[in-house]
Amino acid sequence: MSDALFSAIPYVAAGAAVAGGVRRLMARTPAPTPAAPTPWTPPGRAVLAGASIVALNHVLGLLAPRVMQAFNASPGRLFTLEAVSLIGGLLLAWGLAGLTLRRARDGQWGAAALLGLLLTQALSGIYLAVSLRWGSAWYVHVVVPYLRSVLAFQPDAALLAQAPFIVQLHTLSGMVMLALAPFIRARPGPVAAPLLVTPREETAG
Ligand code: HEM
Repeated sequence: MSDALFSAIPYVAAGAAVAGGVRRLMARTPAPTPAAPTPWTPPGRAVLAGASIVALNHVLGLLAPRVMQAFNASPGRLFTLEAVSLIGGLLLAWGLAGLTLRRARDGQWGAAALLGLLLTQALSGIYLAVSLRWGSAWYVHVVVPYLRSVLAFQPDAALLAQAPFIVQLHTLSGMVMLALAPFIRARPGPVAAPLLVTPREETAG
């Protein structure tokens, strides 16, 4: 992939994420009446558990690479971290697949498409973790320097440019996914009222 992509995509994605977040804050969604809580469904729980584990692995390497390096210095701990991360990734993918199907069944195609993209990202992460083992060990040396250079506004993808294509793709598409996050509703939207309701039925009760 070209240097221009590594330099431009993070900032375009960050701009889109900020715009999406502001738009979401400004959009005045009327309070649902009556305020019936949406039940927290099994796929939702799997997404939450899987996402927490995957996010922890991703963020720890970025924020505290030395801690991660020290932790991974023991083969037993490295193996455990990799196994737990993989289980988290599988939980996340399973949960996302359930949520995507549910939204598609409800005809919420926009939400289904966004969740489907997230699912693709999770699947590419699982493929990456399985095909290029001990990811949490090389992540801090290959990907984290690039991410930190981006945060310092001096993007330098020298190391990442030599990494296998799947690493480059998962990293750049990961940024695009983070930009899309503000557009994803965590819970289903209000269920539309039945079309065939007579005025009498509406006021009854
Ligand atoms: C800039 C953004 C991202 C970077 C640099 C990145 C990098 C990586 C790396 C290096 C791995 C291999 C880790 C290992 O084998 O231990 C991985 C795995 C994975 N990634 Fe990402 N990723 C990013 C965003 C995302 C996002 C947004 C998702 C959400 C769907 C995601 C989901 C996964 C999953 C499910 C795995 C496999 C489980 C695991 O080992 O943690 N990644 N990612």
